[in-house]
Amino acid sequence: MYQEIDLDKIDINSKPPAEEPARQYYFMAKCREWVQEFERKKGRRPTAYVTTFGCQMNARDSEKLAGILEQAGYQIIDDEKADFVIFNTCTVRDNANQRVYGRLGELNGHKRRNPDMKIALCGCMMQEPGVIEKLRKSYSFVDLIFGTHNIYKFAELLYASYEAEGMVIDIWKDTDKIVEDLPVERKYSFKSGINIMFGCNNFCSYCIVPYVRGRERSRKPEDILEEIRRLVADGVVEVMLLGQNVNSYGKNLDEPMTFAQLLREVEKIEGLKRIRFMTSHPKDLSDELIEVMAQSKKICRHLHLPLQSGSTRILERMNRRYTKEQYLELAQRIRDRVPDIAITTDIIVGFPGETPEDLEETIDVVRRVKFDNAFTFIYSKRTGTPAAAMEDQVTREQVKQGFDRLLKVVQDTARSQVSRYQGCVMEALIEEVTEKGHAVEEGHSAKKGSAREEELSGRENVPMVTGRLSNNTIVHVPGDASMIGKIVQVSLDECHGFYYIGHCV
Ligand code: 5AD
Ligand code: SF4
Repeated sequence: MYQEIDLDKIDINSKPPAEEPARQYYFMAKCREWVQEFERKKGRRPTAYVTTFGCQMNARDSEKLAGILEQAGYQIIDDEKADFVIFNTCTVRDNANQRVYGRLGELNGHKRRNPDMKIALCGCMMQEPGVIEKLRKSYSFVDLIFGTHNIYKFAELLYASYEAEGMVIDIWKDTDKIVEDLPVERKYSFKSGINIMFGCNNFCSYCIVPYVRGRERSRKPEDILEEIRRLVADGVVEVMLLGQNVNSYGKNLDEPMTFAQLLREVEKIEGLKRIRFMTSHPKDLSDELIEVMAQSKKICRHLHLPLQSGSTRILERMNRRYTKEQYLELAQRIRDRVPDIAITTDIIVGFPGETPEDLEETIDVVRRVKFDNAFTFIYSKRTGTPAAAMEDQVTREQVKQGFDRLLKVVQDTARSQVSRYQGCVMEALIEEVTEKGHAVEEGHSAKKGSAREEELSGRENVPMVTGRLSNNTIVHVPGDASMIGKIVQVSLDECHGFYYIGHCV
């Protein structure tokens, strides 16, 4: 487990240690020497900017990148014109890749003005065949590229890029290694993600994740629990346990353990107030887990349970290994045992071979399960996945019609689900000061200039804070920054579609 390590005590003139994480601390000390030299020459610390694309796992990885940069002496800033810029990339859909290429073009402009600037890329997109070739050919101004399996080596790679003339590239095919004890720079003081496992073994036929994140590996429960204890001692009240498929946690441990058993242990940690987790695969969600959720005082009343499609025929082609009926039955079992739970989901529209009848099946499931929110995605063809080779790809026009129809049902259902609590008093964890005009973060309601901006404009002079209910719904209440990180009782006065405006009681 990470403890404050005194980099001054490391002899950087000796050979680097072979074992981890000592080796990375050695390179952090080497990088720090480079940083100090920069400071002497320029009279200021070098700045660094870490930007994240994609999921919560990537967000957590970025906190590790920032932690290492901090240790080396960089000043972390929120500006692309920094001396060191790193993009932690995603590749789950093609538009994520396109965004990276677009942003790289802008970075090139900054680098022309600041030739000492260094640009690094890491994460899922770097693991995809073809990407490195393209970067080599058309984006030769990038200095450092690495993938998902060797992110723990960031300090060593950063140092290599200071020493090297051209691009440094280090991509591994896979790893069975989990390196613990690296520094982390948390984005929030009161909540944190915790990786409990890495990789995925499911091979859903549309999904690139198993190819870029490798095989499933679980962290040891004692390492996870120790990390949470330390976070709690440092002021964290809410944790989000992270994995591509948390329901299969522990299967590959020397002493196998279920996810439900792990949750029971996390629950016992004193001072911890809230537990969340992400993501659950319906095929692995056990009755034991439902029971633990029902009995728990800390596990939040929210389950993200990706449906992907409501058509059994399409689910089979997606290799999801459940049927429409099994999903409906599972959702019912969860709602029966945990009545106040919010169920959210992911849906893909336009999977190869999907017909309007298949989409009707999906809409039917949305109506019956009454999702509290759903992230709807247009199918994106990912090279190398089985679905990319399927012949009956659906055209853009067909997809568009179906997508709009589904979105309307999803939004209507979500609105009526969220509004059920109008007038109730509930606990909210206050997360931030409400920025005026700041997009509502959740799902499809994320639009600037949205309803919320108008609603809040009537309260121009009242400072507001944003909180999150156990069921993941957002509430804005009058308040100030001193409330951040506190759990307060709020009255949910007015429902505005996907969020509430309320007041503390
Ligand atoms: N196209 C569209 N959506 C996808 N997802 C994963 N792969 C694809 C793809 N090729 C969606 C799934 C998953 C979410 C994280 O991203 O719905 O649950
Ligand atoms: Fe992709 Fe399926 Fe694994 Fe999720 S469970 S990461 S959708 S392969």
